[in-house]
Amino acid sequence: MSTAPPDPAAGKDNGTAAFGFRKVAAQTRQGLVNEVFSTVAARYDLMNDLMSAGLHRLWKDDLITWLNPPRSQRPFELIDVAAGTGDVALKALRGGGPGCRATLCDINPAMLEVGRDRLRQAGLAARAGFAIGNAEALPFADQRFDAFTIAFGIRNVTRIDTALAEARRVLKRGGRFLCLEFSCCDVPVLDRLYDFHSFEVIPRLGALAAGAAEPYRYLVESIRAFPDQRRFAGMIGKAGFQRVTFRNLMGGIAAIHSGWRL
Ligand SMILES: C[S@@+](CC[C@H](N)C(=O)[O-])C[C@H]1O[C@@H](n2cnc3c(N)ncnc32)[C@H](O)[C@@H]1O
Repeated sequence: MSTAPPDPAAGKDNGTAAFGFRKVAAQTRQGLVNEVFSTVAARYDLMNDLMSAGLHRLWKDDLITWLNPPRSQRPFELIDVAAGTGDVALKALRGGGPGCRATLCDINPAMLEVGRDRLRQAGLAARAGFAIGNAEALPFADQRFDAFTIAFGIRNVTRIDTALAEARRVLKRGGRFLCLEFSCCDVPVLDRLYDFHSFEVIPRLGALAAGAAEPYRYLVESIRAFPDQRRFAGMIGKAGFQRVTFRNLMGGIAAIHSGWRL
């Protein structure tokens, strides 16, 4: 089993950042993350189902239930950042009415291309927009969106506080921030099983099903290097969001954080 993760905030001042359990120069970290997702893009959806036994689908359903996009003609502009292969946008557009539009933004063209194909195949591309962009410097004007979602994406970002400030900047007043991310499980026995699954099963599954263990080792380690529920809620509040709350999913294996730009 792996050693304890480094503090995600550690090294901030000397120009280093956590990449999984390794320390790397902050300016090279995003390039390493991009390599991971370029490697896994074609098999990302299959691996997601295998690694989480399909649970990620239920968690994304919970996210959309909480988002509650209007089912009417009322215009509702969602931005889904770190959109990847488009799961959240697909679910939001299916759940929302004809006034609901989604912009998918991701730093990795290979991941976003899979998302674009899936939205086209689902007949939803007319209500979708696509943008290559970094969560830390979003290519959008201030106060453009009604809601901001990010699922399993924020832990990949180098400067989380910068990304949170950007999320707030692009939201209208009254807009909602929702983040689905792996978090800290503190249920006895479940936490042990989860550790075993994370460090022993997932990299092997990655090697077998996708031909590469290393990207999956990063994905697991990056989960453990991410701040726990309360600390992340504090970071969201510090970015200027109000009424910050969170819900644990499966004993905290994942959590959804919510905040409002008021
Ligand atoms: C684990 S995937 C999640 C994809 C999708 N949201 C989902 O839940 O299936 C993480 C995504 O974050 C993207 N990503 C990583 N760093 C990013 C950044 N700085 N800005 C925007 N997207 C980023 C990756 O390219 C990848 O598509």
